[in-house]
Amino acid sequence: MNKPQPKSAKDPAARDFETWSKLWPSETPGKSAPLLKALHILTREGTLNADSRRKLTQVLHLTQMLRPALTDLLKDDASPVLADVGAGKSYLGFILYDLIFGPAGRGSVTGIETREPLVESSRALAASSGFDRMSFIAAPIAEATLPGGKADMVTALHACDTATDDAIRFALKHEAKVIALVPCCQAEVARLLDGQTGPLRQLWRHPIQRREFGAHVTNVIRGLVLEAHGYKVRVTEFTGLEHTMKNELILAERHQRGNAQARGELNRLIDQLGVKPALLDVMPA
Ligand SMILES: C[S@@+](CC[C@H](N)C(=O)[O-])C[C@H]1O[C@@H](n2cnc3c(N)ncnc32)[C@H](O)[C@@H]1O
Repeated sequence: MNKPQPKSAKDPAARDFETWSKLWPSETPGKSAPLLKALHILTREGTLNADSRRKLTQVLHLTQMLRPALTDLLKDDASPVLADVGAGKSYLGFILYDLIFGPAGRGSVTGIETREPLVESSRALAASSGFDRMSFIAAPIAEATLPGGKADMVTALHACDTATDDAIRFALKHEAKVIALVPCCQAEVARLLDGQTGPLRQLWRHPIQRREFGAHVTNVIRGLVLEAHGYKVRVTEFTGLEHTMKNELILAERHQRGNAQARGELNRLIDQLGVKPALLDVMPA
C-alpha cells in the first residue's frame, strides 16, 4: 500500500507557497497570494513557473532597493504620495502598497498609464485587494497632474523611449524627493547622432554601436539633468536577469536646490556630442 504523502508533496501550490512565502517580506504572505496571482507573479494555480520566478526576483530586488527611501518618506510625511508612471498593470505600485504603504497604514499610490483597459483592471484589482489608497489616472504622463501638485516619489519602470523623459519632467513639476527610473529602449539620441561629425564621431559610426551609445548617453544625460536639479544620483544594476540595455536603475534623491557643477558638466558633454535631446527643455536657459 502507498504511504500517505505529506500535503506539500502532493499539492504544487502548497509546495511553492513554502518557497515564495519565505522570500515575501510580509508578516502575512498568504494574504498576498490573490494579488500575486493577478499580477502573474504566481500562476493561476498559485504555483511558480520560470517566468513568475523571474518576476518575483525582480520585484523583491526592486522593493529592497526602494524600501529605504520609502521608509524615510514615511518618517518625514504623514501621507507620502508615490506616483508610478507608465505603470502598465501597475505591478510595482501594487507590490509597494502591499509590502510598505499597506502595513504602514498610510501613504498613497497613483498609477499613470495611457492604456484605459489596464487602468480599469488596476482599479478593479485595487478594489478587490482593499487597497483604498491606490488610484489610477488614464492619461499620458505629460498631461497628468496629481492633486495638490504633490508626488513625493516618482517611479518609472521600463517606460518606453522618451516616456522616461516625461517621467523626469513630471517628477520635477511635482518636486519629487525621490525618483527611480529603469529606462527602456531609447531611440532619440541615436537618431540625432546619425550623420553628426566631430572629434568623437567614431563612437557612433556603426548603427548598432550608435544605438547602444545613444541609449547610454541618454541615461548619462538624464542623470546629469537630475544632478543639475539638486538630486544625488546613483546608477546601479536593476537585476542581473534583464537585458543589459534595460537593466539600469537611476535612483535620484533631492538634497539641494541645484548643482552648478553638474550643469557645467552637462553643457560640456552636450557641446562635445553636438546633439540636444528634447529633455534639455527642463534646463533653465
Ligand atoms: C513596458 S511597459 C512597462 C509597464 C510597467 N511599468 C512594468 O514595468 O511592468 C510601458 C508602459 O508605459 C505606458 N506608456 C508609454 N508611454 C506612456 C506615456 N507617455 N504616458 C503614460 N503611459 C505610457 C505603456 O502603455 C506601457 O503600458
